[in-house]
Amino acid sequence: MVFNLNEFLTAISFALDFVEIDILGANTNHGKRTAYMALKIAEELGFSSEELHDIAALAILHDNGVSEKSLFESLNTEGSSKISELELIKEHCTIGEENIKKYPFLTDVRNVIKYHHERYDGSGFFSLNRDEIPVMSQIIEMADVLEMDFDIQNNSLDTQNNIFRFIKEQENRMFSTEIANAFRNAAQNKAFWMDLKNLSIDSAIRKSTPQYVVDLPFEKIQDITQIFSKIIDSKSKYTQRHSRDLSEKVAIMADFYGIKDDERLKLIIAANLHDIGKLAVPNAILDRPNKLTKYEFEVIKEHTYYTRMALQEIKGFEEITEWASNHHEKLNGLGYPYGKNTKDLDFNSRLVACLDIYEALTEERPYRESLKHGEAMNILNGMKYDGLIDSKITDDIGHVFKSI
Ligand SMILES: [Fe+2]
Ligand SMILES: [Fe+2]
Ligand SMILES: [Fe+2]
Ligand SMILES: [Fe+2]
Repeated sequence: MVFNLNEFLTAISFALDFVEIDILGANTNHGKRTAYMALKIAEELGFSSEELHDIAALAILHDNGVSEKSLFESLNTEGSSKISELELIKEHCTIGEENIKKYPFLTDVRNVIKYHHERYDGSGFFSLNRDEIPVMSQIIEMADVLEMDFDIQNNSLDTQNNIFRFIKEQENRMFSTEIANAFRNAAQNKAFWMDLKNLSIDSAIRKSTPQYVVDLPFEKIQDITQIFSKIIDSKSKYTQRHSRDLSEKVAIMADFYGIKDDERLKLIIAANLHDIGKLAVPNAILDRPNKLTKYEFEVIKEHTYYTRMALQEIKGFEEITEWASNHHEKLNGLGYPYGKNTKDLDFNSRLVACLDIYEALTEERPYRESLKHGEAMNILNGMKYDGLIDSKITDDIGHVFKSI
């Protein structure tokens, strides 16, 4: 399929922004603004268009490692007040680097994410200094620090002056003179500051990131989406394998129905990404040990809406978007978020929906143990009789997974 890397990245940045808001307390569009500043600094430094594309991608992905649940646990703190400490844990850099290994970057970007918290004077996590730090890491570090510490989206003249003062203070400490100068040059333009405002950031990033369209087989796209299923799953300890296991079950059922080739791979991709909107749901709600309040349940219900928002812009992902984001719709119209019904839900949407329920029931949840095959099937059969899910698919799942 002709795969537009930029469209895919936009989808990812939409989802990753939510992670940063939830976990790091960052602003909306943090990833995009970090990417925009990184791009402008890199342009000043004479980067090639492939390098510009890659630095935008890396800036958007820079904190993908913070959603890893094990990091929360290592903090040993409760609540959200101390949660921005995650940025202070070195492992989010190594996990983030590892997560994106299979992403189709256009240039050699090894270790850029790993070293995105290094400081020029050697006072970062890995004590690398000066030229030992990849230039892309140095640029992302500057853009990230500025975005987190200053009100970049409003950037009043006072804020702009404070930023210039801060950069002067940190020259040869946090940042090299070369990168500080590149920032100063880029920031001379009025348009630089206007582009960073919330109203313009989307189009600014689209305009500034060189477009790359690669012709990739669905196998390769499947590999890439697996990276993101891992990031999605790692958000909660209760869903550590949810998307991955769902994809495996989807593949088994596709084989059972004789669904082959691209359609089979698209189904697997849909399963990999079906809960991408969960990145927008706070962990405080996802991991809640007791029953959810009505309000919390309403927040959970938003996730499939966000899944659709994230995926629908990717050309060639039309069916994937449907199958991924219809997974909580019900045949009788009582599902969410659109209240679709029998006539709107095609076979593959119904298949993903049934398997998602089966998968969730057979996993442990904060409020219950994992259910055995028979117990899960009792619940699915109840839903089938109530007209919520497809009866033939339910019977087939009961049959296929009986002995597994
Ligand atoms: Fe970070
Ligand atoms: Fe960040
Ligand atoms: Fe879901
Ligand atoms: Fe799910």
